[in-house]
Amino acid sequence: MSLDSVLADLAAAAEDPQLAPREFPLMPEGEAVDMGHAEDGTPLIDPRIFDSPEFFRNPYPYYRILRDHYPVYHDKLHNCYWVTRYDDITECYFDDEGFNTIPKGSSSGVLGNTQLELSGIEHRRRRNLYGQHLVGKSLENRIPAIERLAEEMIGDWTRAAQQGAPYIVDEDGVRSVELGAAFANEFPIRVVCEVLGFPNEAQDDFFYWYNSMMSGLGGSDTHKQGVEARQHLEDYVAGIVEARRKQPTYLYDLDGNPISKDIISKLCETKVDGDYLSTEEITSNIALIVGGGGETTRGAILNMWRLLLSHPDQFEAVAADPDHWDRAFHETLRHSSSIGGQPRHNTYDIEMHGVTIPAGSLMQMVDFSANHDERIFKDPEKFDIFREDLYSGKLLRSGYRKEGRCSHMAFGVGPHLCPGAWISHQESVVGSKILLKHMSNPRLNTSRMPKDVDGVSPAPMGIVSTRELWVDYDLR
Ligand code: HEM
Repeated sequence: MSLDSVLADLAAAAEDPQLAPREFPLMPEGEAVDMGHAEDGTPLIDPRIFDSPEFFRNPYPYYRILRDHYPVYHDKLHNCYWVTRYDDITECYFDDEGFNTIPKGSSSGVLGNTQLELSGIEHRRRRNLYGQHLVGKSLENRIPAIERLAEEMIGDWTRAAQQGAPYIVDEDGVRSVELGAAFANEFPIRVVCEVLGFPNEAQDDFFYWYNSMMSGLGGSDTHKQGVEARQHLEDYVAGIVEARRKQPTYLYDLDGNPISKDIISKLCETKVDGDYLSTEEITSNIALIVGGGGETTRGAILNMWRLLLSHPDQFEAVAADPDHWDRAFHETLRHSSSIGGQPRHNTYDIEMHGVTIPAGSLMQMVDFSANHDERIFKDPEKFDIFREDLYSGKLLRSGYRKEGRCSHMAFGVGPHLCPGAWISHQESVVGSKILLKHMSNPRLNTSRMPKDVDGVSPAPMGIVSTRELWVDYDLR
């Protein structure tokens, strides 16, 4: 697609009176706004819906219209093609040559030169540098550290309550705790810092750099701060790298015995084509690993607790048999993942479902919608950890269908499958088991939860992760 035709499309969209700003009414969850019908009765889609508060709180009925009537929807307002069916999306994800990941624009400056933008052999080489440290035996070795961090964070709650922390309140034998501020916001970052081997004394600085980098990815006004934070991180990492090249550091088990080198020490001794990785390359790996694993795992933990506590029978089942946490984790990621989808560029002209897509177009693969595709998952809006059609076994590295069941799409599939999938699974499950051990009779405190846009009813989960999750439990 040429730049001229893109500009022409945008100009046409801007002048189209039908694309002037429009407000949509808020609908009950699961029901779509009536945006009109074609002569044959097909429901119409007004692309302005995708920017509306209604869509952010209640996206699934709109994805259903897209899947049923416009499996590839050419959105001239946003200049992209939305792909919404499970089978189409998995096919594109596996075809790394036909559907390229795209330079992530502002992310390049903030995260540095990462593999996000690469494909093929180059991508595989970069990914293997750290990916091997997040799976298998290496991951097993890291579980004691995950357990210890969870215990330490929860062990601090009583002191926090006594000091009047805003996220924890003790009253009449009941503790109300906001699980985000008290646990899930920081836990995944602490875990990743630990397995990377990031020094404890720099963790506060690290949180500051992390938050600045994350907001730097989000918009132009915060981009400068993100780039500066990345530079500070790189300056700091330079010192660590110099020291670790001479003297590697280790992770220890609960008895203080060394179990393996931390990831930074391993990266320091990694050679590519005969050369050691540069400090810039090591910093980019650190930024990418932490950037990929913070907000996503936070969302998984909070969404899982929210969904389970809203379905007390399923919560009881998990409490009675901790093996069910694995099912709960996967069903949460199917039902309400923390990542909506991924952009791709098609490298040649294609036709999908009768829509011609010129080479180089922006195609939005909507993982949220794939996870709710009724062609794959029966009754997809229902949260059911015992559903028969979801594969919840050991995470599959290359496949996504096993034993006649499909996996959810929250980690993507194919060459870019999330390399943090295994560790985020362990963080969420191990962390939740320890949370439950400390909380007697936990239940949602909806009166403290953020409100919907009407300012009264509790905010639905929509397409963002739960912002605040207030839980009450009995103090023993
Ligand atoms: C529930 C938690 C998580 C979710 C839902 C998630 C989701 C995803 C998805 C959908 C992708 C694929 C992107 C694409 O296809 O272009 C991805 C890639 C990635 N994720 Fe995760 N992720 C999670 C946790 C983590 C963790 C804990 C880490 C690091 C420790 C991590 C690091 C990465 C990296 C480095 C990539 C880029 C992989 C590549 O391009 O080859 N993620 N993640």
